Amino acid sequence: MSKLDTSSKTENRSAPSVGSNGSAEPLRGPHFTISPSGSPAPRTDVSPGEILLSTKGLVKSYRKGQVIIPVLRGVDFAAEQHKITSIIGQSGSGKSTLLHLMGTLDAPDAGEIYFEGNRIDNLPSKGRDTLRNQYFGMIFQFYHLLPELTTLENVLLPMMIGNSVFKYWGSRRRLKREATELLDVVGLSHRLKHRTRELSGGEMQRVAIARALITKPRILLADEPTGNLDEQTGAQIMELLRSLNDEYKLTIVMVTHDTTIAKQSDRVVQLVEGQVQDV
Ligand SMILES: Nc1ncnc2c1ncn2[C@@H]1O[C@H](COP(=O)(O)OP(=O)(O)OP(=O)(O)O)[C@@H](O)[C@H]1O
Ligand SMILES: [Mg+2]
Repeated sequence: MSKLDTSSKTENRSAPSVGSNGSAEPLRGPHFTISPSGSPAPRTDVSPGEILLSTKGLVKSYRKGQVIIPVLRGVDFAAEQHKITSIIGQSGSGKSTLLHLMGTLDAPDAGEIYFEGNRIDNLPSKGRDTLRNQYFGMIFQFYHLLPELTTLENVLLPMMIGNSVFKYWGSRRRLKREATELLDVVGLSHRLKHRTRELSGGEMQRVAIARALITKPRILLADEPTGNLDEQTGAQIMELLRSLNDEYKLTIVMVTHDTTIAKQSDRVVQLVEGQVQDV
């Protein structure tokens, strides 16, 4: 088995759970079935060039007291399978907001979000949890690691959260092996037992990447993966993401304000005045 066997997952994975709008009706698309019970169903692969994640007319505002802050004003966006797509834009333009909405961490005021052609923004919370836990890998702007846990424990965390204690315990040896392999892929095999508070920024970002990959996601959503790093370390992280994309065909949507980093993507779009434009 390769160190990070995303290809086998790509072929065998089906997607999330629970019918759209909370109904008991299964939601079927070309590539997955969302069943009311939440159980995964067989799927076929999505071909390269196909749209994996997309939005249509996405609108989002925040309210601060009496003031309404319009952030997204009708975002149409599409990320192709097996490609790296970068979203650039000024600070405050809504990049993180868009990524969080696509990751179903927050709900839009209007508009739609599709994964593999199936609407996901209106899934009930159980469906969104399954989606995030099994299909999306997320890297946050400020890592969100648990500082008192070791590198290895942080990477295993999604598997502890996503499975019952019984199931986790039954697979713990295999999961530990996979987490160790992943940490080797991101160049951290010499830091397995360090607590993450003892790591450098670049090393923390590598742990966050390994943690996002442990569930073998279909897509990686990365918010400023190089944002807190010096130029050289940032370039190394981008190289790592590029190699994950090349070697394992991992689809990546990345937010960055760094145009040098963005240029290494397959496609760059820009958020301007609440809308996405091609660059
Ligand atoms: N929870 C919130 N409540 C109120 N306003 C918010 C909230 N989250 C974000 N905003 C506002 O929405 C706008 C967009 O924020 P967002 O974090 O998406 O920007 P960004 O493009 O990611 O910026 P940066 O490059 O600095 O990370 C900002 O003006 C921000 O102040
Ligand atoms: Mg941001």
